[in-house]
Amino acid sequence: MSSVQPAETSPRKYQLMIDGKWVDAESGKTFTTPNPATGEILAEVAEGDQADIDKAVAAARKAFEGKWSKVSARDRGRMLYKLSQLIEERTPELAALETSDNGKPIKESTYVDLPQVAENFEYFAGWATKIEGETIPVPGQMFNYTLREPVGVCGQIIPWNFPLLMAAWKLAPALAAGNTIVLKPAEQTPVNAMELGKLIQEAGFPDGVVNIVPGYGETAGAALAAHPGIDKVAFTGSTEVGKLVAKAAAENLTKVSLELGGKAPNIVFADADIEQAVSGAMMGIFFNQGQVCCAGSRLFVEEGVKDQFLERLQAKSANIVVGDPMDQGTHMGPQVSAEQLSRIQGYCDVAQEEGATVLAGGKSPELAAAFQKGYFFQPTIFSDVKNQMRIAQEEVFGPVVSVISFKDEDDLIKQANDTIYGLSAGIWTSNITRAHRFAKAIHAGVIWINTYNMFNAASPFGGYKQSGYGREMGKHALDMYTHVKSVWVDLSGKPIGWFGK
Ligand code: NAI
Ligand code: MG
Repeated sequence: MSSVQPAETSPRKYQLMIDGKWVDAESGKTFTTPNPATGEILAEVAEGDQADIDKAVAAARKAFEGKWSKVSARDRGRMLYKLSQLIEERTPELAALETSDNGKPIKESTYVDLPQVAENFEYFAGWATKIEGETIPVPGQMFNYTLREPVGVCGQIIPWNFPLLMAAWKLAPALAAGNTIVLKPAEQTPVNAMELGKLIQEAGFPDGVVNIVPGYGETAGAALAAHPGIDKVAFTGSTEVGKLVAKAAAENLTKVSLELGGKAPNIVFADADIEQAVSGAMMGIFFNQGQVCCAGSRLFVEEGVKDQFLERLQAKSANIVVGDPMDQGTHMGPQVSAEQLSRIQGYCDVAQEEGATVLAGGKSPELAAAFQKGYFFQPTIFSDVKNQMRIAQEEVFGPVVSVISFKDEDDLIKQANDTIYGLSAGIWTSNITRAHRFAKAIHAGVIWINTYNMFNAASPFGGYKQSGYGREMGKHALDMYTHVKSVWVDLSGKPIGWFGK
């Protein structure tokens, strides 16, 4: 009989990854991250703060000016490609960890998150050798060209809703362009960032190119955003914290990109294929337990089809399986934390006080004993919502959809744009001209026509208005991680002559 516990029954332990070494926090502090389905401790993680961020920024600077600057574009691409292959090979293990740390159903982590993580590293591997300057047709005996240079040390602060994917969106273009990085994962979901750190080492990236410092936002995150030693900060998270990050960065005029909240309109016209639109409404709000910045949380339905549409939506939503996220048949797992769960419950109470009608959900489900400490919430539908209500204006970040009716296209566009956010929008219609009119009229960075939540590493993603600025993925992401330098050469070989011979 062995007294050794199997690894999976004891909490995992992680240190910080700084300059290629695994180290404890300077303070010696650690924090724990629970499995949100059961409340059990999944891992104990070193808790970085200002002192560790200082060390990580110094390591990133040293790597940027040293070893990494001598690595060819081809080799950067090869390392990124190798990383994408390692992720593909380890998909079952990484998907299980993603589900254990975040709560998302295993079907999503296996078939959505992990493949997209690998895809992003693979896509930007190809870009490493294709980041080019230009020659400019300036007049006279002059030669003018541009160089595209990496910006330097990048601080990257990411959220918990897609822990690995948000790391990939940020790391891949930054590395392709030759930058070095200090990554601060969310305190709710640090585990896979540290696993990714191991694969980054295995893929051959030199020490200090990627440094990973988990810790709390108010300490490690704030220290990174305000650090005078970084050249760029990239942030994904709440609009509230995005403003703090931009303010901190302004002190040093650090370059900033922000991917923040949303309150997307998902619009169903009477001429839509109703079954398709119902499935799209569900994909828009229940995917990832609604913890999606581009969630279709305002569901606009044309008055003429509202009753028929809601009946189908209610019937289909009743079949959603909420429960054990490790079960292949589960559609929705727990919310990420007790804090998020109570926030969602709070919004449901507000909606009812404001006069909205609960058609489904509005509370936590009854589950088996093993999951009674988990942070589960039912798929929730509110009808009779008015666009001015708080439930329609504020980001809930949960499986809660507000149904708002509209009369015609003009009325709709006005309501749809009446929000501080502008990340995404969906439209369901069989009228092709209306679909494209709408795509132009909506103030948002991503428009989905007769589909929802489509992503590809080659297609840019980012916000208008208070949803942030900058574009991730696609070639536009490289603009955030490169400087353009203009170089002038006099080909005449003569003195300039302006001040006389
Ligand atoms: P948050 O914005 O506080 O956290 C996101 C990241 O920022 C985490 O890594 C956190 O540690 C870090 N952070 C927090 N305070 C910071 C500071 N002062 N300086 C630098 N970094 C800081 O989001 P939170 O509290 O987890 O969730 C609250 C709400 O934010 C959600 O209900 C949702 O509405 C929104 N949110 C939006 C996300 C998106 O994808 N756009 C992702 C996560 C949350
Ligand atoms: Mg917060």
